[in-house]
Amino acid sequence: MERNLALEFVRITEAAALASARWMGLGKEKEADQAAVDAMRRAFDSVRIDGTVVIGEGERDEAPMLFIGEKVGRKSDDAPPIDIALDPLEGTTICAKGGVGAIAVIAVAERGNFLHAPDTYMDKIACGPEAKGAIDLDLSPTENIRRVAEKLGKPVEDVTVVILDRPRHEALIAEVRKLGSRIQLIGDGDVSAAVAAAWPGSGIDLLIGIGGAPEGVISAAAMQCLGGDFQGRLKFRNDEERARATKMGIKDLDKKFTIDELARGKVMFCATGVTDGPFLKGVKALPGRRATTHSVVMRSETGTIRTIDTQHNFTKKANV
Ligand code: FBP
Repeated sequence: MERNLALEFVRITEAAALASARWMGLGKEKEADQAAVDAMRRAFDSVRIDGTVVIGEGERDEAPMLFIGEKVGRKSDDAPPIDIALDPLEGTTICAKGGVGAIAVIAVAERGNFLHAPDTYMDKIACGPEAKGAIDLDLSPTENIRRVAEKLGKPVEDVTVVILDRPRHEALIAEVRKLGSRIQLIGDGDVSAAVAAAWPGSGIDLLIGIGGAPEGVISAAAMQCLGGDFQGRLKFRNDEERARATKMGIKDLDKKFTIDELARGKVMFCATGVTDGPFLKGVKALPGRRATTHSVVMRSETGTIRTIDTQHNFTKKANV
């Protein structure tokens, strides 16, 4: 994977973040998402890659842009063939409400190295590098927290678990409360939450619970770059979802996917904050039609984690 591509991908997530941030707090989820999709799709045109979207906005018939299977990038004979997992606005509701942790995100791998996950749910668990190897979806939340606490050298009461605030997590939340660990309930955005579990100083040790499967693959890519750990198991609500997974090539529908089965090889992860979050600051509008963005780009090959603060001047660059 060419390392120079890293900066190109930051430009793409910056464009999506700048476009969607214009809709922050306006209560218009669809418009915010559409702005991010349009900007991201446009920005791809200037990057010399032979890219295929494998995790995107949906199937071709339901998403006109950045759909699964769409070819993106400025092709040339020497353009590298890569697979792309993206979410132009991860946390549409967060953005619409002006909440915490909306991001624009792209993960990239060499062809064939991302799980082609259907748009269903996924049971997930994620932790940072210090606790790598301690998590196992087959164990109870209590056992997982105990094992992580031991690896981190702290009592279970000092372990902080982030959980999506959903009725489906009632039993999970009750179990963690009974154990006495700390909980951060979030309204949305479990990619940000997974990254936070491996981000120094975030105060988050673990992500547990059910969220979107595409977001699970993107989170696994991030954890590969951060040296953290991640496991996921697809959760289906009906036979139609099971059929969709089978059609996408998933043979064992009950399989527990390890981090390496979700995202393997040389992986790159790039995200720009839309709203302030646990590891990225959001877009800030400045006087004089300028704005700042805060992004991270990381590569699993080298383990380099690069944060990028950018000042944009829209009197000179009118692309958003
Ligand atoms: P969107 O950006 O597509 O709205 O997803 C936000 C999100 O909170 C994800 O982070 C999470 O994986 C998923 O939705 C959870 O799904 P649900 O809202 O159905 O519980």
